[in-house]
Amino acid sequence: MMMKYGKRLVLFSLFVMNLVDEPAPEVAIEQGILSGIISRCGTYFEYIGIPYAKSDNNTRFQAPGPPPSWKGVYKAVEGYHMCPQETLFGIMGSEDCLKLNVYVPVNPKSKKPLAVMVYIYGGAFVFGSAGKTIYGPRFLVKKDVILVIFNYRVALLGFLCLRTKEAPGNAGIKDQIAALRWVKKNIAAFGGDPDNVTVFGSSAGAVSISILIASEATNGLFNRAIVQSGSSISNWSINRKPIWIASLLAQTIGYDTEDPKKLYDIFSKMDYKDIIAIKAKKPMDIFYDTGLIHLPCVEKYIPGIEPVITDLPYKIFENNTKDIDVIYGTASNEGIFLAPTETEEMLESRNERYLFASDLHFSSEKEAMMIAKKVQKFYFGDDEISITKVLNVSKLYSQLYFEIPAIFETEYLLSRRKSKVYNYIFNYHGWRNILKMTSGFWYEDGATHGDDIFYLFNGDLFPVVISIDDWKMIDQITSLWTNFAKYGNPTPESTDLPFRWKPSAKDNLQFLYIDRESKMGPMPCPEGYRLWKDIYSKYRKTDIT
Ligand SMILES: *[C@@H]1O[C@H](CO)[C@@H](O)[C@H](O)[C@H]1NC(C)=O
Ligand SMILES: *[C@@H]1O[C@H](CO)[C@@H](O)[C@H](O)[C@H]1NC(C)=O
Ligand SMILES: *[C@@H]1O[C@H](CO)[C@@H](O)[C@H](O)[C@H]1NC(C)=O
Ligand SMILES: *[C@@H]1O[C@H](CO)[C@@H](O)[C@H](O)[C@H]1NC(C)=O
Ligand SMILES: *[C@@H]1O[C@H](CO)[C@@H](O)[C@H](O)[C@H]1NC(C)=O
Repeated sequence: MMMKYGKRLVLFSLFVMNLVDEPAPEVAIEQGILSGIISRCGTYFEYIGIPYAKSDNNTRFQAPGPPPSWKGVYKAVEGYHMCPQETLFGIMGSEDCLKLNVYVPVNPKSKKPLAVMVYIYGGAFVFGSAGKTIYGPRFLVKKDVILVIFNYRVALLGFLCLRTKEAPGNAGIKDQIAALRWVKKNIAAFGGDPDNVTVFGSSAGAVSISILIASEATNGLFNRAIVQSGSSISNWSINRKPIWIASLLAQTIGYDTEDPKKLYDIFSKMDYKDIIAIKAKKPMDIFYDTGLIHLPCVEKYIPGIEPVITDLPYKIFENNTKDIDVIYGTASNEGIFLAPTETEEMLESRNERYLFASDLHFSSEKEAMMIAKKVQKFYFGDDEISITKVLNVSKLYSQLYFEIPAIFETEYLLSRRKSKVYNYIFNYHGWRNILKMTSGFWYEDGATHGDDIFYLFNGDLFPVVISIDDWKMIDQITSLWTNFAKYGNPTPESTDLPFRWKPSAKDNLQFLYIDRESKMGPMPCPEGYRLWKDIYSKYRKTDIT
């Protein structure tokens, strides 16, 4: 008796010290048998690094191939995977990076198959990975959902778009679709419900989801979506001149060509590390565009190749009939995370440029200048643009890049579909507003771009000590998100939350202001909305280039 107890005690201490990993139940999927472990806190099973598709230098720039099968038991416990990208420690990752992590609650209250949430990371389409450094699953899995997070290819490896068979474009988005297909096919083996899949994501992840909603390739793959701070109908989310961008990149390594065949030849022969190392800068032009160069593109129909999108997303939204319910939201002060990237010189040079993106088209320069002046007046009054006006610039960013496109997308969904749409503004200021903390504008009100994700995930990187208020926010936002995933309603009858989140109606958008005490309210920026609605309905450029 004593012997046995003693042995257990030793085992238990080893477990606590994490020297012995307690196994999780084995899972059999078509590829083979998987084993995982029980998380350190004991509340969920984790299966890390499951290959969901195959990418190597043969499928470089293309849709990934089918995932590998194996004999025996695949130990889904292995440490860190990422797709090739620039990190603080240099270029890391490998081309064979299409792995995903599945987190399953140990003791779910429900005996039915569990709702599934699939997260798509942001990172401007140049970085990001599924690991627990940022995306720890503990807060969400506690609420009885299965969480899946996967890697997808980024930068040129994910987004070279030559509109040819060899490099049709959007390889990174095709990875996302492959991951969703894997979930649909395999998640039941983990106890998940393949008919209750919610995709959610922030920033570039939100842009991705907006594209996935527009894409016909995803029909039937997910049931609901949460789009946090990003939209495919803002100009910065689509690379409208992908071949020009590719030639710009080739130029910096000594080639002068715009021929797609030659460009493919150059990039397909290079080592992936050298590809990631290429840096290029778009020349600044008269429009107010971002410097982003690795972005999804509009593909061409190519026989035998399944495209993601073959038209501009806003055009697809006009006619698309995918009937899913969506939550759209932005942070209350999106733009301030960009403020530190501005220099005095850059800002002053804006006085001579148009204060809108190049997705507008005017019949004359005079007309363009008139609209530019109107926008300048709106955000800067009679003042010149300068470093002292950096908050006004950030407001312009907030509205033009984030708030307004999310509202336009909401309107498209509500006008054409049977979908329910919920809108929110994340306004909470707490100790986990990591991006605001690093922006240099900590004392500004509200939250900035990306702050919400640190209340959804317990990354290893971030403070172990969590304040009481922050715990309340974590509890609130994870309840809203998981309720939506389970019931299609963030505040169902059964909720303990002291408010109800009403969906928006066609001519009456309603917003939940998520804060210490959340409440419903009107659109945050009606004048800004009217300004841009007016401009876009008159001047939106409708062709692809
Ligand atoms: C492609 O992968 C193979 C096997 O890993 C390697 O030997 C070869 O050098 C790679 N080619 C390029 C262009 O990276
Ligand atoms: C917006 O679209 C134009 C082409 O219409 C492009 O030149 C510009 O770079 C885009 N802006 C971005 C990605 O910010
Ligand atoms: C959308 O549908 C309308 C009416 O059916 C049609 O006139 C229009 O051309 C369509 N637009 C696109 C982009 O397919
Ligand atoms: C510029 O920003 C400041 C600070 O946020 C604000 O008080 C002012 O009203 C803004 N100017 C305009 C014209 O909106
Ligand atoms: C799945 O979704 C349906 C409706 O969309 C709902 O009735 C059902 O309860 C959900 N199941 C789970 C496990 O959440």
